[in-house]
Amino acid sequence: MRGNLTTRKLVWLGVLGIVMLAFGLNGCAALERWEESVFAGTVVADASTPDASAGDTGSSGGGSPEEPAGVTVDGSPMPPAEETVRPSPPPARKQIALTFDDGPDSNYTPRILDLLKEYDAKATFFLVGSQVRKFPDVAARIVEEGHSVGNHTWAHADLTKLSAKALNEQVDRAREAIAEAAGLTPQLVRAPYGAVSDAVLKAFGEAGMTHVGWTVDTKDWAGTSVATMRENVAENARDGGIILMHSFGGRKGAIEHTVELLPLIIEDLRANGFELVTVEELIESGRAIESAIKLPVASK
Ligand code: NI
Repeated sequence: MRGNLTTRKLVWLGVLGIVMLAFGLNGCAALERWEESVFAGTVVADASTPDASAGDTGSSGGGSPEEPAGVTVDGSPMPPAEETVRPSPPPARKQIALTFDDGPDSNYTPRILDLLKEYDAKATFFLVGSQVRKFPDVAARIVEEGHSVGNHTWAHADLTKLSAKALNEQVDRAREAIAEAAGLTPQLVRAPYGAVSDAVLKAFGEAGMTHVGWTVDTKDWAGTSVATMRENVAENARDGGIILMHSFGGRKGAIEHTVELLPLIIEDLRANGFELVTVEELIESGRAIESAIKLPVASK
């Protein structure tokens, strides 16, 4: 019996030991869970404080919540992040207009158009109506290739010597020829020889036309050398300027020099920051040198 009792005691002690061991382990686990919940609660509580939220916004230097956003430590305004990486815009380009008078023809005008196309440059052609009637396809090509056209009268007349009626006929006939050949009515006009009077400008104004002069005269019609013309253009080119050349007429062989000059001045002008635009673009951009342009006066 004793042996049995002793054995029973040992069994009970063993069971008790296992129970106590299990309780102890469970207690430790419970303690760990409690500690976790307490620390988690502390973190949540900290996140709601002003300091913690200031930290979340990433403001530099761990400063106080009162520090205004977007201001650097030395107090100067902080530029937006985007602009600090964007390259600064290029300086405003200068604009200048190449103009060719007295065409079209079947020789020089097409060669000038070929060069302008090769250089992807735009120009303005002041067309003589009787020449447009002879070479309507060349007039149409000028417009198709993105150039501007202006009225240079029907027969290259000196308008200051004409009656009001004859003056209007010169302008109207050229306008009709250009409209028929090229499908547009030019708003620009250039009086032959640049010869204008108050009466001539009044007639243009009443017809809603803008008279276009020039700021650089190459004198190409006179057979001026390529070197002299190139130097003249280089010295006198200005932002908003208008260069006078011809695509027909003048002294024998004179316009050969113009064809030779054209690529040289295109390269020179571009190398000096000039963009080659039409006279219309020059007027629209507001850059045209004022003395060269006579806008139509609004009718009263
Ligand atoms: Ni002319």
